[in-house]
Amino acid sequence: IERTFSILKPDATRRNLTGAVNALIEAAGLRIVAQKRVLLSRAQAETFYAVHKARPFFGELVESMIAGPIVVQVLEGEDAIKKYREVLGATDPSKAAEGTVRKQFALSVGENSAHGSDSPENAAIEIAQFFSGNEIVG
Ligand code: GTP
Ligand code: MG
Repeated sequence: IERTFSILKPDATRRNLTGAVNALIEAAGLRIVAQKRVLLSRAQAETFYAVHKARPFFGELVESMIAGPIVVQVLEGEDAIKKYREVLGATDPSKAAEGTVRKQFALSVGENSAHGSDSPENAAIEIAQFFSGNEIVG
């Protein structure tokens, strides 16, 4: 059993899509074992996406992540990291497969509705950024 970290981004919460995305998560067999709605500070958003600091879209990325509330989650299941990235689909919604979150809901590469961790190492780091152990109930 594996855990991954998820963010439902501001473009999703703004359009009242929390439940719709959660339905796809649960239909894929992933369990939501922690969840809360928060507003990121600029510093938190910059820390979270620090690996992209040198990219030309970094400023735009940070702005989009603080534009409204987000929902942070811990998802648990067999092969959860890979499975959730499959549920999300390609980063660019125009390249995302039918039935994926980003195909159905994303507005653009920047406003692509959700984030999922890309490795076990990053999942552990990202989960620890937002949740203490007793907030995660498997
Ligand atoms: P995350 O799950 O959000 O990490 O997406 P990803 O792993 O599929 O993509 P990546 O880590 O490469 O990029 C992180 C985020 O930066 C993406 O989800 C996009 O929102 C944003 N991003 C990536 N490329 C671009 C781009 O070319 N333009 C803009 N505006 N945003 C981008
Ligand atoms: Mg990524």
